[in-house]
Amino acid sequence: MTTNENEGQCALVTGASAGIGQELARILAANRFNLVLLARSRDKLQALANELSAAHGVRTTIVPADLSEPGAAQAVFHAVRDAGTQIDLLVNNAGLLMEGRFNALDLDKQLQLLQVNIVAMTAMTHLFLAPMLERKRGRILNVASIASFMPVPNLAVYAASKAYVRSFGDALFQELSGSGITVTTLCPGVTDTGMVQGTDLGSVPSVMIMDPKSVALEGYRACMAGKPVHIAGLANELAMQWIKYQPSWLVRAVGSVLSKGRDR
Ligand SMILES: NC(=O)c1ccc[n+]([C@@H]2O[C@H](COP(=O)([O-])OP(=O)(O)OC[C@H]3O[C@@H](n4cnc5c(N)ncnc54)[C@H](OP(=O)(O)O)[C@@H]3O)[C@@H](O)[C@H]2O)c1
Repeated sequence: MTTNENEGQCALVTGASAGIGQELARILAANRFNLVLLARSRDKLQALANELSAAHGVRTTIVPADLSEPGAAQAVFHAVRDAGTQIDLLVNNAGLLMEGRFNALDLDKQLQLLQVNIVAMTAMTHLFLAPMLERKRGRILNVASIASFMPVPNLAVYAASKAYVRSFGDALFQELSGSGITVTTLCPGVTDTGMVQGTDLGSVPSVMIMDPKSVALEGYRACMAGKPVHIAGLANELAMQWIKYQPSWLVRAVGSVLSKGRDR
């Protein structure tokens, strides 16, 4: 399913060194996008950049950055702009998850989670949207979660951060209607990546667990179709349709099933 209509366009992917972001980068390269790859792990980014340039002949640049640091998004934006690179598709995928009781988790680490999942994502969108608006063309893909549809005990801060991502993206999609720019929010369910290893999320029924490649492909297609929100996987989609009509006590109980919540 490769296509040349994206030739010369450039996508920036945050969290490209692993999991869903790495698979999104592979799909974008196979579809002829040049790439700017962002994460903290320089070596993993460089290995992926080499792999994708060799396999698809696309231009790849790495931007090692820690999005939990205040001002990181601004530094990335200026570095990309000063290099003369125009971003046609922005993927805000980098995210952190912490499982455990809110009071037992380290406060500074939870604030770092908010910095990556919310603050940096918002800043990246604001900064890279401006030149897209000038060109009247662009795509933004934000990665939320099915946790955005319900409060999740023992993932309280994570789920709330993803509710922000979905609400923000949905509002922006509407605000940008007619501007030539689309904002797509991808909501994966439990996906087999490093993020869920060692957490209770791995114990959900296997029919609900997806592989990162399938999730990334669904996200790419939804983004290219200019869809506002996409829930990955039919089982997740049906579950989220069902949950919309349930009373809040039941929604909280379903959230508890997602993370059984050992104290960590
Ligand atoms: N896996 C799931 O079950 C699941 C479900 C729903 C939604 N999601 C969402 O999907 C997105 C991708 O998750 P994943 O499962 O692919 O996770 P993952 O395998 O843990 O990958 C996370 C990526 O984010 C990067 N990252 C983490 N902290 C960062 C920081 N401070 N600065 C810059 N980059 C950082 C990591 O790279 P470095 O460590 O090299 O920095 C890595 O590339 C996240 O937003 C996550 O919330 C995941």
